[in-house]
Amino acid sequence: MAELVIHDLHVSVEDKEILKGLDLTIQEGQRHALMGPNGNGKSTLLAAIMGNPKYTVTQGSITLDGQDVLAMSVDQRSKAGLFLGMQYPAEISGVTNSDFLRSAINARQEKPISLFKFIKQMESAISNLEMKSDLAHRFVNDGFSGGEKKRNEIVQMLMLKPRFAMLDEIDSGLDVDALRIVSDAVLKAQEESNMGLLIVSHYARFYEYLKPTHAHILVDGRIVVSGGPELIERVDTQGYEWIEEEYGISAKQEAKKQPVSLGVCAVKQGV
Ligand SMILES: Nc1ncnc2c1ncn2[C@@H]1O[C@H](COP(=O)(O)OP(=O)(O)O)[C@@H](O)[C@H]1O
Ligand SMILES: [Mg+2]
Repeated sequence: MAELVIHDLHVSVEDKEILKGLDLTIQEGQRHALMGPNGNGKSTLLAAIMGNPKYTVTQGSITLDGQDVLAMSVDQRSKAGLFLGMQYPAEISGVTNSDFLRSAINARQEKPISLFKFIKQMESAISNLEMKSDLAHRFVNDGFSGGEKKRNEIVQMLMLKPRFAMLDEIDSGLDVDALRIVSDAVLKAQEESNMGLLIVSHYARFYEYLKPTHAHILVDGRIVVSGGPELIERVDTQGYEWIEEEYGISAKQEAKKQPVSLGVCAVKQGV
């Protein structure tokens, strides 16, 4: 059985330790929800699994079917079957979606995919996501709305057919209809391929559609509670404060934005 195993993972960003000994095992066919207050390390975990060079693994291991993921380059990780649907997808002007995806598919197989087969698959992915048919010819994410970028991540997932897909707040920026379309596409893809899923989201509604089999809460660089879908409901109704009370672990607070001072121009002088 295909298995992604993360053990005692420590990850630093710019010399600051963000993940502090994280354990997580995902098997094929499972859907794991990953929640936790903002700024506590969810995206850092996904970036470290995918091999983003800004994130330095200082301790611990990540294996995919016993193979050392940390020893692989990013493209090797992708070829091994890992996929990351990003929280903030990048725009690539000058490269069309179809060129991008055809190159990615060809990089992972010996014989290039036939144009006919590629077009059929691309059309099917685009129609699954209910996107406009000119998507294939547009530059990757260039000028896309927030929701279109997120759907385009799922188009990529459908085309690349990963064994383990990680979706980072893929629901943000989606309206209610799009949420349903994306969820259906993800579930259908999983049914066909039995891939494992790690889904980061804050919203119970998205999870209602995706029906995770497992749920975890990440606080201050560690998974402090794991369980089933009941955890999602608890977070939805009670937030995260109970974790501090029950587990004695306090969440990292995201730095609050300082209010912009308007200085003297905004001061109304008395007459
Ligand atoms: N590329 C980066 N450069 C600097 N700091 C980062 C970077 N990525 C993440 N961090 C910091 O790491 C911490 C965890 O961030 P992140 O993993 O994005 O949290 P989450 O996804 O749970 O909201 C935050 O303090 C964030 O500022
Ligand atoms: Mg994040």
